[in-house]
Amino acid sequence: MKRIIKCTINKETYELAIEPNQTLADLLRNDLGLTGTKKGCDTGDCGACTVILNGDAVNSCLVLAVQANNATIETIEGLSTEDGLHPLQEAFVEHGAIQCGFCSPGVIMSAKNLLDKNSNPNNQEIREGISGNLCRCTGYQKIFEAISSQCSDK
Ligand code: FES
Repeated sequence: MKRIIKCTINKETYELAIEPNQTLADLLRNDLGLTGTKKGCDTGDCGACTVILNGDAVNSCLVLAVQANNATIETIEGLSTEDGLHPLQEAFVEHGAIQCGFCSPGVIMSAKNLLDKNSNPNNQEIREGISGNLCRCTGYQKIFEAISSQCSDK
């Protein structure tokens, strides 16, 4: 039997009827068309599905949609505005931190969550902040440089 949840996603309020076993990743992608959130492994290993849930970066494939009741969620679609890309997204472009792009939304959401909590992370904190996000193309250095460029002391 479907459950009703209320939540705020990218500043929009939703009331949704969902299956109790549906994941947040599937809700975002399949029901709401927010396909910027990627699914790589569906088992919590790759970080491609990272979103910010109540201020914390989470693997949305490991969160049941019912757990998002009354929650505030940010996805990659919520970052850009009418004025253009979010500065972190611009930095990824400028630093060549995107190759195939599949991991990029998840990495950027982890980085955003890190910078939201600590505007000037040190090198180790940046590496730890994205340690749950796997990338097969870039070797991480360009990603690291892009995030570093957004630290408040830069
Ligand atoms: Fe969720 Fe890989 S799809 S961690």
